Amino acid sequence: MSFAALPKRKLRLGVNIDHVATVRNARGSSYPDPVRAAIVAQKAGADGITAHLREDRRHISDEDIRKIHNSIDIPLNFEMAATSEMLDIALETKPHAVCLVPEKREEKTTEGGLDAAGGHNHLAPMIRQLGESGSRVSLFIEATEIQLRAAVSLGAPVVELHTGTYCDAFAGNNQILAKAELKRYQEMARLGSELGLEVHAGHGMTFDNVKPIAEIPDLVELNIGHFLIGEAIFTGLEDAILKMRKLMDEARGFEAGPVS
Ligand code: PXP
Repeated sequence: MSFAALPKRKLRLGVNIDHVATVRNARGSSYPDPVRAAIVAQKAGADGITAHLREDRRHISDEDIRKIHNSIDIPLNFEMAATSEMLDIALETKPHAVCLVPEKREEKTTEGGLDAAGGHNHLAPMIRQLGESGSRVSLFIEATEIQLRAAVSLGAPVVELHTGTYCDAFAGNNQILAKAELKRYQEMARLGSELGLEVHAGHGMTFDNVKPIAEIPDLVELNIGHFLIGEAIFTGLEDAILKMRKLMDEARGFEAGPVS
């Protein structure tokens, strides 16, 4: 089937509010409050809220997760490393979705995807328990066939493709690499769908680079955080989200309402 033959489908937007907590924690204050950001994002039309509880608690705290979960009506996508500590928290919280990510203490942000293939024995029981507890498990992976097939064999219903390499190439004006990465995401999103996975994408998206990703017809959801929180300083979070939503809708060929 050609891409053009797929029915038009609106992309879901998951808003990652981690970096509201980064600003709060920079001063050890009680503000800005990520719970308030989640409520604003919901009002602005976000389809879900993503929050990453890191092992070192550098931004989101355990209390934030509980409060966000209790304060929003849209799905919470709880991002976590595949550790027993995080598993216990997820099993207690029972978020709508759990996204398993690789995590290194020294990294500034999530670098690279989870090794779903190499980590099979460690991940399989965790994914099963999370599924039984009612959370939809997503694996944040590199867009490769090996990782997609590993996700299927692990029984994960969702994968999120790491778009960082494209976004870095775009920022560095490396058009050859950016184009090659987009092609890879297109092909792997297609393969993922054919394998029965729901395919999401995330990492590094901005107003300038989102459109070619949003045009990939097999993608169902984008998760975007750092840029939106930064943009909120200038325009407010609601406007930043509305503008991102408009760009995503336009990429899918939907008429979008006016945005200031
Ligand atoms: N998806 C996942 C799995 C992530 O780890 C992150 C970064 O925390 C994002 C999406 C959002 O990336 P960004 O903050 O660069 O928009």
